[in-house]
Amino acid sequence: MSAHLGSLEEARALDRAAGEAALRRDAFHMPPGVSAYMCGNSLGLCPRAAQRALLGELEAWQKSAVDGHFKDWRGWYRYHEHARGPLERLVGARHGEVVAMNSLTVNLHLLLTSFYRPEGSRTKLLMESPAFPSDTFAVETHVRSRGLEPDTHVITVQGDSDGLFGVGCFERAIADAGDELACVLLPGVSFLTGEVLDMASIAAAAHEVGATVGFDLAHAAGNIPLSLHDWDVDFAAWCSYKYLNAGPGAIAGAFVHERHHSRSQAELPRLSGWWGTDPDTRFDMHLNDGFEPVASVDAWQCSNPPVMAMAPLLASLDLFDQVGMTELRERSLRLTSWLRSLLEFEGAPWRIITPKESHRHGAQLSVHLHIDAGTAQRRLQDQGVLADVRPPSMIRLAPTPLYSTFEDCWHVADAMRRCLT
Ligand SMILES: Cc1ncc(COP(=O)(O)O)c(C=O)c1O
Repeated sequence: MSAHLGSLEEARALDRAAGEAALRRDAFHMPPGVSAYMCGNSLGLCPRAAQRALLGELEAWQKSAVDGHFKDWRGWYRYHEHARGPLERLVGARHGEVVAMNSLTVNLHLLLTSFYRPEGSRTKLLMESPAFPSDTFAVETHVRSRGLEPDTHVITVQGDSDGLFGVGCFERAIADAGDELACVLLPGVSFLTGEVLDMASIAAAAHEVGATVGFDLAHAAGNIPLSLHDWDVDFAAWCSYKYLNAGPGAIAGAFVHERHHSRSQAELPRLSGWWGTDPDTRFDMHLNDGFEPVASVDAWQCSNPPVMAMAPLLASLDLFDQVGMTELRERSLRLTSWLRSLLEFEGAPWRIITPKESHRHGAQLSVHLHIDAGTAQRRLQDQGVLADVRPPSMIRLAPTPLYSTFEDCWHVADAMRRCLT
């Protein structure tokens, strides 16, 4: 490891050289007193346009009341459809494969209802360990709701002592499970280590043994380029409060591959509500009998969209459309590699566990410290650096390309050298 301590001047020169192409810092509120915000993988910053978007809908409600469903510039009846295009571009989906709805864990339950179909000796669901607790709870309770025991019917693939999985690990486990496997549910990017999984290869392995495959993209959406349609993923879900900057508890996203859209309710059961039906005939409700799913991912919607919660999402997605994932990823790789180069030096009292190869990491670096993570977090916060922690000794640093700069990265490394060594 070579010492590369960098300097503030070097950081500023890198910022000047990178230019403004993908940077939208002025479009966000930076919390006062913060010199480096590294928590975009946890809660993204508030886009300035969010307030206007939200107030606009409140005003529309004041002025139009029930008429707001069908008038004003974004009628609420089809409000969620405005998020569709930008989200489809972000995750690499075709038209009709993505919908903004609910929250992430709820979407996982709705999608597992359809895509985890244990039958005969094909009953197993494969996931990773350690997994995000909500995913574990969702899977365990879901499996139990089918009258099956998680201990027997959930296969957990163990990471190494750092929580890394490595190339080919899931493909091998999937092949081993063979025709006992009903469904695979894995993250696109590990919340703990920042490791990117090879989703295309995992999807192919799952289909090879006749299983369905879905991804939790909480740490992938808005972070790395995705091609869900081309990778032949069956389903996916993500939250929008991390890299997508849509606010605390923001409306989540869901993807269902188009080959499933025309399958009947008998063939592919969906937990249903009125918003899963054809919007053109939905209000003939007393004339229709039985649930007729609309032939798109919207068939998984149960309820009408919560407009006030969705307004900030639309404001935030505008920024992604302005920049595009290709530019963002390029900037992200440069920022994260530079931060890594500042933190990796001879005798550093920490260890970065996130894989180094560019196709195996996103924005986040997970760093094992030799001191308690809570203490480190407080010391960094005193220096104006906001980083998030996973006890007992991990901090996660995520330079977020829309608003983080090389100078921010320098501040992080400088603060770590001063108060954690
Ligand atoms: C990987 C992962 N899965 C699930 C969740 C839970 O999300 P929600 O509270 O939106 O259901 C999170 C939240 O941070 C997460 O990071």
